[in-house]
Amino acid sequence: MRILMVCLGNICRSPLAEGVMKHKVKEHGLNWQVDSAGTGNWHAGDLPDKRSIALGRKYGIDITDQRARQVKSSDFSEFDVIYAMDKSNLRNLQNLATTDHDRLKVRLMMSETNEHLQEVPDPYYDDNGFDQVYQMLNRACDAAINRLKNE
Ligand code: 4NP
Repeated sequence: MRILMVCLGNICRSPLAEGVMKHKVKEHGLNWQVDSAGTGNWHAGDLPDKRSIALGRKYGIDITDQRARQVKSSDFSEFDVIYAMDKSNLRNLQNLATTDHDRLKVRLMMSETNEHLQEVPDPYYDDNGFDQVYQMLNRACDAAINRLKNE
């Protein structure tokens, strides 16, 4: 399984999503590939936001090897599932997809849980929003692994 986590900047939410998912994939002994990207390119090459790095560290997850990059069209052939953190990311990804097959790879991250219409909120302007982001990603990644493992 090849999973891509996508948000706007690829510095706050999706790097954490990548870190959380990689951690769980390893715990499950799965040989899955996990990466992340942003729909925007303003932060390309940057480290994750220091608040995301700190939060990952709090839960034993090191994300400092990550560097931001923008989503590219080849991602649709490189990945099996592409998770959008919010509905704006979802729309942008659906617009980038060129075939129905590729469009079907794109899902809202929280659609894996029973909070399926929820968005992972952008915490960029809210220092207090990061822990909630981690908790949501933790639930969503557990649910995603359970579903994808049985596919
Ligand atoms: P992210 O958060 O999409 O979770 O990485 C953001 C990071 C940067 C910006 C917006 C959201 N920005 O406007 O630069």
